[in-house]
Amino acid sequence: MAAARSLSPEAIVEELRISRLRGRGGAAFPVWKKWQVAQRIRSEQKYVVANADEGDAGTYCDRMIMEGDPFRLIEGMLVCARAIGATRGYIYCRYEYPAAARAMRFAIQKAREADLLDSDDYSFDLEVVSGAGSYVCGEETALLESLEGRRGVVLAKPPYPAESGLYGKPTIVSNVLTFATIPNILANGGAWHASLGTEGSRGTMAVQLGGRVKQPGLIEIPFGLTLRDILDRFGGGMAAGSRFKAVQIGGPLGSLFPESQLDIPICYDAFAEAGAILGHGGIVVYDHETDMVELARHFMAFTADESCGKCTPCRIGSVRGREILERIQSGQGTAEDLFLLSDLGETMKATSLCALGGRAPYPVLTAIEHFPNEFRSKLSAFSSQQ
Ligand SMILES: Cc1cc2nc3c(=O)[nH]c(=O)nc-3n(C[C@H](O)[C@H](O)[C@H](O)COP(=O)(O)O)c2cc1C
Repeated sequence: MAAARSLSPEAIVEELRISRLRGRGGAAFPVWKKWQVAQRIRSEQKYVVANADEGDAGTYCDRMIMEGDPFRLIEGMLVCARAIGATRGYIYCRYEYPAAARAMRFAIQKAREADLLDSDDYSFDLEVVSGAGSYVCGEETALLESLEGRRGVVLAKPPYPAESGLYGKPTIVSNVLTFATIPNILANGGAWHASLGTEGSRGTMAVQLGGRVKQPGLIEIPFGLTLRDILDRFGGGMAAGSRFKAVQIGGPLGSLFPESQLDIPICYDAFAEAGAILGHGGIVVYDHETDMVELARHFMAFTADESCGKCTPCRIGSVRGREILERIQSGQGTAEDLFLLSDLGETMKATSLCALGGRAPYPVLTAIEHFPNEFRSKLSAFSSQQ
């Protein structure tokens, strides 16, 4: 914070531009651009919101930051408030994280008592709000709706929250890890952060390794290591008695990678090229006993359950997708159903309002692409003779 106090709001944003930090919540948008938009708008009221909804299965680094080092998040949010001229902040904390919420409330109280939130030239206060227990409330516009007391439904963008967010005021919504990275960047300089990682992905990434590996855990890596590095060097290889089958990265909307793709470097560009996402850094390893048809059905059913219902492709498409996969699973599916899934997937990708519907087809389509025989072997006898 001392570094931030010595810099003007414009100089803070400039330091972030140099750092080339991209948001760690999933969309990987350059942080400085959002801050600059909010900074340049004249408004008496602006907000800073930490997205602590952390809904991706197998991810928990936001929780560990909040429980283990809550002042780091507060500091990152304070720097943001100072840079854009915000007076109020909220931590939208996943309902299932009571210990993290407690730790944050305690730390906010201590910071208030020590006069760390206010200073002579600005005033700021922070509050922890419990999430609505819905995956889609992690999407920034649905989150802000929920924060205002309404149902968490996704809104069309633009306007982006940086221009018109909470109560229609400029609002920076960023992931916990994104805010927690800011104090180090200001203390060491943007150039220090930019010196780590790869061309399009600067700095480090917290990856959370889970599933059938020997040593699951949270690892902070410089961008550029391969998936194989993570699994072998940090995960210690496969758990006893299990053989590798696939790995999913980026939560329930992430693509599945087979063994042949393990040398892909962990960075935004390589993942975008492979049609995949890094998301919030969740890596889940599946072994040889995994039924890929059931896995694909599970993820489509997840989207059908969690869709906010605002747009038709996600609301209806996910239900139809789940039904097709259930048909295949019960031996009633035909070869046409596989084409139908692919067609449906392309429609959902192209026309959904947010990434929930837009990314939901990826685990299904990559499962079919890499493990076609598992799907074909379940088609009805009539269909396979055609
Ligand atoms: C369905 C859905 C769920 C999301 N869940 C989260 C979440 O749990 N945490 C998060 O930080 N971002 C989540 N996001 C991304 C947010 O919309 C937004 O991009 C992010 O909070 C911006 O922060 P960042 O710039 O630090 O990445 C989600 C997006 C979608 C479409």
